[in-house]
Amino acid sequence: MLKLKMPTAGTPYIFSDILHAKIGLFQSNRVFSKFRDILKEYLNVENLLFINSGTTANYIIYKVLKQIRKRVDQVEIILPAYTAPSLLLPIEAEGLTPVLVDIDPSTFNLDITKVAEKLNSKTLAVMPVHMFGLPCEVESLLKLTDGSDIFILEDGASALGTTVNKQHIGTTAPFGFYSLNRGKNVSTLAGGIVVLKNDDYSELFQQYVNELTTLHPLAQFIMFLKFIGLSLAVRPFTYTLMSPIVSKFKYTTLHSHFDSFKYTTMQAALGINIWKRINDLTERRIENGKALLNVFKNRNGIITPVIPEDAEAAFNQFPIVIDDLKKRKRLQKELLNQGIETTLMYEKPLHHIFPELNSPGDDPFPNATYLAEHLLLIPPHAQIRCSTINTIKEAVEAVF
Ligand SMILES: Cc1ncc(COP(=O)(O)O)c(C=O)c1O
Repeated sequence: MLKLKMPTAGTPYIFSDILHAKIGLFQSNRVFSKFRDILKEYLNVENLLFINSGTTANYIIYKVLKQIRKRVDQVEIILPAYTAPSLLLPIEAEGLTPVLVDIDPSTFNLDITKVAEKLNSKTLAVMPVHMFGLPCEVESLLKLTDGSDIFILEDGASALGTTVNKQHIGTTAPFGFYSLNRGKNVSTLAGGIVVLKNDDYSELFQQYVNELTTLHPLAQFIMFLKFIGLSLAVRPFTYTLMSPIVSKFKYTTLHSHFDSFKYTTMQAALGINIWKRINDLTERRIENGKALLNVFKNRNGIITPVIPEDAEAAFNQFPIVIDDLKKRKRLQKELLNQGIETTLMYEKPLHHIFPELNSPGDDPFPNATYLAEHLLLIPPHAQIRCSTINTIKEAVEAVF
């Protein structure tokens, strides 16, 4: 009998999503304002802009920060040593300099206490990244930089839906961004959102977005076909049948380049339809995260992340750190036998991927290195049900 495999990530699309995306191909730009209004209300921000990816959103924020900075020698961007390597691309594209800070082994996110020592007159921005859907502390960074010329920008790419004290992450600092790429908490195949807490620089942002090219109608139609493929690939039955093909589309190599273009009407129409069930999709990630925390916490040799009490974490992936790498391998195998695929992304911290960010002697960011080398990511998405969590629990009990 065919053993069903659970996809590692993905928005469970429904038939009406395909229908709305198809109609969206022929809609006018008004669909953007409609989607913007829905998201402004959802995120409770004054403004936001859509573009083709989280990377482009980040890139445009740097362009604006460079224009509004007080001094031209403000070129340094502080970010965690363990995060998505692609975050270095827009930094490089804008001629800025990445400055790494170690992560906190208990939160798996940027170690806020180590940021102060990296701040100097060249600092342009600090970027707390809400990795895996885990909220990174932002308030204390705002306090730390209060009265200075330093900007805080939040990377909420993989944490759409996570809130702290009922406020969405990505909306505490003046600037933030989300990704709507495939595999993210909500996906319109690809996409990015720049989030502006207040309206001060909206026009400047809009100018940069206006300068981006519009995808050719044929490219938009191909995008629609890809979306149909993705909508099949995120369901267990079709994922199982298609997995040899799907694996070819998974990101396995480092990106060395990013394209920037405008968001499409097809994606906005799709987004509007998905947002009708956003609370359900998010709630399931939050509940699955809580259930997985119960499965993994207080087990010898497993470290689970500390989540602030007032936070609801919409996990993109549920991260655990396993000290014994042989046990990690056994757990992965046990889970795979049950059709549950796990991931190890990213297996190296930034300073090991890019040696120019490393320094001779002792590892400058040992917590980031340990996390990268011992991490295991468990899928928490909306299609994971109680029965899958129970299967995961049995596999964990067989190994630990
Ligand atoms: C933490 C983080 N930031 C930014 C990005 C970039 O987003 P996008 O893939 O939409 O360019 C990613 C994508 O993997 C990410 O995980």
